[in-house]
Amino acid sequence: MKEQKTQIAPSILSADVLRLEEQVSALVKNGADFIHVDVMDGHFVPNLTFGPNMVKALKRITSLPLDVHLMISNPDLYIEKYAQAGADILTVHQEACTHLHRTIQSIHNQGIKAGVSLNPATSLSTIENVLDDMDLLLIMTVNPGFGGQKFIPQGIKKIAEARKMIDTSGRDILLEVDGGVDSKTVKNIVQAGARVLVSGSAIFGQPDIVKAMKELKNLAEKAL
Ligand code: DX5
Ligand code: ZN
Repeated sequence: MKEQKTQIAPSILSADVLRLEEQVSALVKNGADFIHVDVMDGHFVPNLTFGPNMVKALKRITSLPLDVHLMISNPDLYIEKYAQAGADILTVHQEACTHLHRTIQSIHNQGIKAGVSLNPATSLSTIENVLDDMDLLLIMTVNPGFGGQKFIPQGIKKIAEARKMIDTSGRDILLEVDGGVDSKTVKNIVQAGARVLVSGSAIFGQPDIVKAMKELKNLAEKAL
């Protein structure tokens, strides 16, 4: 594997919406690498969250890359909207795309990075044929829809397999993990090969969110 540092992507799903600007700015100032925006449509997942307006608003307060995770059906219909709102990485779910290769192309046509995410029950073999086209692979280690769920331990084996696939491809694909990343799980996640760590409740659920993020980042770096 090419030497890659670990990066942290706080998920604003668990932020205090009334203090969003203050919380995001504090994390940006103190070493966050991405801001992870969870988009849910009440159809692909049983919850509703943010639209393109949220991405547009975040763009006004940070220059960090916005890592937009589309947990929606028919993502093709919204690629342009989220790209124009300011998404830097747009990640779609394999399970929501009938023509995944075309969807990835559409994201690239907007001049931004394309990610593909897999639910815990979805095999890595489903993305083998598009691995060379994507910029980021997002392994879900909870069933998407909610923050604060328990890490599904089978995810570790999948992360390790994904790492091998990426290394074999020789391409510079970010391996991101989302769901139940906290001070207890982070070591195994990093050692299995993940390099971008999404974290919602383990940061925003703590009284001092900056301290929580820094601790998680330190643990991730130490695990390398
Ligand atoms: C879940 C979302 C996650 C969520 C993770 O469907 O995709 O990004 O914010 O939350 P935690 O870190 O609390 O598991
Ligand atoms: Zn997410």
